[in-house]
Amino acid sequence: MFRAAVLSTLLALATAQYNDCPEPEGLQLYPHPTSCNEFYKCANGSLTHEVCENGLLFDGKGGAVHNHCNYHWAVDCGEREADLTPLGKGICEYSFGIYSNGPCEIDYTLCVYGEPKYEPCTPGLAYDERIHGCNWPDLLEYCNPQEIVGFQCPAYVDSKDPAARFLPHPRYPTSDCGRYIVCVEGNPRLVGCGDYAVFNPNTLTCEEPDLVPQCANYFKK
Ligand SMILES: *[C@@H]1O[C@H](CO)[C@@H](O)[C@H](O)[C@H]1NC(C)=O
Repeated sequence: MFRAAVLSTLLALATAQYNDCPEPEGLQLYPHPTSCNEFYKCANGSLTHEVCENGLLFDGKGGAVHNHCNYHWAVDCGEREADLTPLGKGICEYSFGIYSNGPCEIDYTLCVYGEPKYEPCTPGLAYDERIHGCNWPDLLEYCNPQEIVGFQCPAYVDSKDPAARFLPHPRYPTSDCGRYIVCVEGNPRLVGCGDYAVFNPNTLTCEEPDLVPQCANYFKK
């Protein structure tokens, strides 16, 4: 009820070209009652009518890509109508979007104002259209995880092998101190140790760099 009242007030104000907002300070965003492409913005008491860029929509739930609008596939429009006329060109169907460069590619195309830009996945991952992001290659169709990761998981792990300690997901070091390989059902996944940790090939775990002499300088470059 309150929301509806605020909206009709805003609409009346917007139509009448008044510059007034329910709150005098801060930033408030109000969805347009019928269009998912539009919204109203009150910034320190000044009201503006905003329209999302092509490919983006508004639901006010955060995760915004540009001017409080988010990718259309991530927005819940409810009853509000969405205009999704593609106005981009080439690989950029919409001016703002994320596009696949093909099945099992280790990069994707990010479109900003209709300009395509190659964005690499984190090493070891490939672009997954279903999630609009990068994913483990073994979860993707048409993908060869051995090729992407550059590692072949052994078919059999001897119980004396240090990797056996982590069965059913044996681990292996790589030439990169910050990453290691985990085999999941025979497929390699390249995993990062995260901030300020390196992989100790003796313990097969991520540890502080001070504890792994050969990787002590990994974060000091
Ligand atoms: C409101 O004004 C303050 C002080 O000038 C400023 O720091 C802030 O960014 C403004 N907020 C918005 C939403 O414009």
